[in-house]
Amino acid sequence: MRVLVSGGAGYIGSHTVVALVAAGHEVVVVDSFANSSPVVVGRLEALIGRELPVHAFDLTDKDKTEQLFASDRFDAVVHFAGLKAVGESVEQPLEYYENNLESTFSLLRAMRRHGCTLLVFSSSATVYGDAEPPYREDQALLSSSNPYGRTKVMIEQILRDVAAIDDTLQVAILRYFNPVGAHPSGTIGEDPQGTPNNLLPYVAQVAVGRRDRVAVFGGDYDTADGTCERDYIHVEDLAAGHVAALAHLRRALPAESSVDGKGARVHTWNLGTGRSTSVLAVIRAFAAASGRPVPFEIVGRRAGDMPRSWADASLAERELGWRATKTIDEMCADAWRWQAANPFGYGDA
Ligand code: UFG
Repeated sequence: MRVLVSGGAGYIGSHTVVALVAAGHEVVVVDSFANSSPVVVGRLEALIGRELPVHAFDLTDKDKTEQLFASDRFDAVVHFAGLKAVGESVEQPLEYYENNLESTFSLLRAMRRHGCTLLVFSSSATVYGDAEPPYREDQALLSSSNPYGRTKVMIEQILRDVAAIDDTLQVAILRYFNPVGAHPSGTIGEDPQGTPNNLLPYVAQVAVGRRDRVAVFGGDYDTADGTCERDYIHVEDLAAGHVAALAHLRRALPAESSVDGKGARVHTWNLGTGRSTSVLAVIRAFAAASGRPVPFEIVGRRAGDMPRSWADASLAERELGWRATKTIDEMCADAWRWQAANPFGYGDA
């Protein structure tokens, strides 16, 4: 298939580009580079061994989106592009609603006008709010606690509404748990701008000497070691989940395989491992993988954090034949290879 990957220069997008090409697809990237580096394009071309067509614009630009679909033909879109920092979304709600919703509208309009019928959408476990894990795709969604999360809840609903009136559209909503790790080559990886919000990149920057110590947000949770537990998933496993979802959409399985009942052409799958790891266990695993000390200090809780989160990943296994296989040690080893080779991320290039 000829696949348009929006946000293909970003962390998950770039790894998925490699996986899609390896699966035999032709990939075209559209990325605004608002939160990603153009350096990634050359790295990707080296990994895939061919030129990667890249369009540098923001999908909220409806005219440019229309022009792209008018000048090329796509069988499918994998839609990663969007703003994704929880804290920032609280400070800048309008930017989050505007960017994440409008880019999706713009894409959906162009897809419908040009007969592109397959869409894979990046959603998040954040849509489960503060329900008790393990999370299942068919459970009622509580409202997410921040504007970023609410854009995901809203876009999921919009996709179901549009699919309900367009019987050509096939949609996969993928709810990611906590993606970490990097391509085993160490040439692409996660490169957050400024201070990392997420645990793994922060730990990696401590191990490489860019930061003094990890602040562990809360040591008094009702968990085995008192720190929060998350379902960390290797970004390579996550990328493979997109390839599997796309293959499933193309096969257009019958309605009864969907959890969505009425909106039967919209499939929702958790992409997680079904296991959880505490903050302290992640720090220990990273110290072991890197052979570097990772000093830490337990500080107060971070507002909005849930004690624990993990997926029931059985639906994706049953319907997609996909399962996450990589361990937390492999996630840390690959994240370290990337961080050690690129201490300042793509800024080193
Ligand atoms: N943590 C620390 N110190 C840090 C950073 C994080 O102790 O410097 C802890 C957090 O308190 C949490 C755990 O590490 O307990 C994981 O935190 P992350 O920020 O890495 O991940 P979250 O689970 O909080 O957030 C992720 C995604 C969000 C998404 C959310 C829910 O980053 O986009 O999962 O699905 F909304």
